[in-house]
Amino acid sequence: MSDTIGTVMITQQQINERAAEIGKQIKEDLNGEPVVLVGILRGAVLWMAGIMKNTDLEMTIDFMAVSSYGSAKKTSGVVKINKDLDTDIEGKNVIIVEDIVDSGYTLNYLKGYFESRAAKTVKICTLLDKPEGRKVDIDVDYIGFTVDDRFIIGYGLDYDEKYRNLPYIGILKREVYS
Ligand code: IMP
Ligand code: MG
Repeated sequence: MSDTIGTVMITQQQINERAAEIGKQIKEDLNGEPVVLVGILRGAVLWMAGIMKNTDLEMTIDFMAVSSYGSAKKTSGVVKINKDLDTDIEGKNVIIVEDIVDSGYTLNYLKGYFESRAAKTVKICTLLDKPEGRKVDIDVDYIGFTVDDRFIIGYGLDYDEKYRNLPYIGILKREVYS
């Protein structure tokens, strides 16, 4: 597998350290109030685990699965819910946990969706932010790492559903997808 992976960009240890910092910050920001973490399947699984372990608050968790129409590398802005919440989030503090914010379409949609369900607060916690890809303006509350506009894999992120199990973040070699 390693011959298709360009470079290791962020190590597992760096990610763990960042999750610990962000967990502390979330606790502070929520003033000890309970929180619902909502992980977006499938890319957020490993990052979700890191945030869960490091956030010392009363917590419940849930997951949603969404897909955006378009190819693997270009999204269209139309978001479809494949698995909805099982939790009633009315009046709750919600943090959406996502793998990467690129165009911003997915999170822009989800934030509106959660607000329409009368959550008390809705915040966003992403492992990676790719600001150069942004098509809609969106406030991201917690960012693990900011990355350049390249195709990232590993630590939950896929290319064609592969590489999610890499225990670090890497850059896919251009010849794999061009
Ligand atoms: P957005 O709606 O364009 O912000 O897209 C977010 C989704 O696109 C993420 O949840 C990923 O599934 C996918 N995505 C965007 N950039 C990358 C990347 O570099 N590697 C892997 N997946 C990506
Ligand atoms: Mg994906």
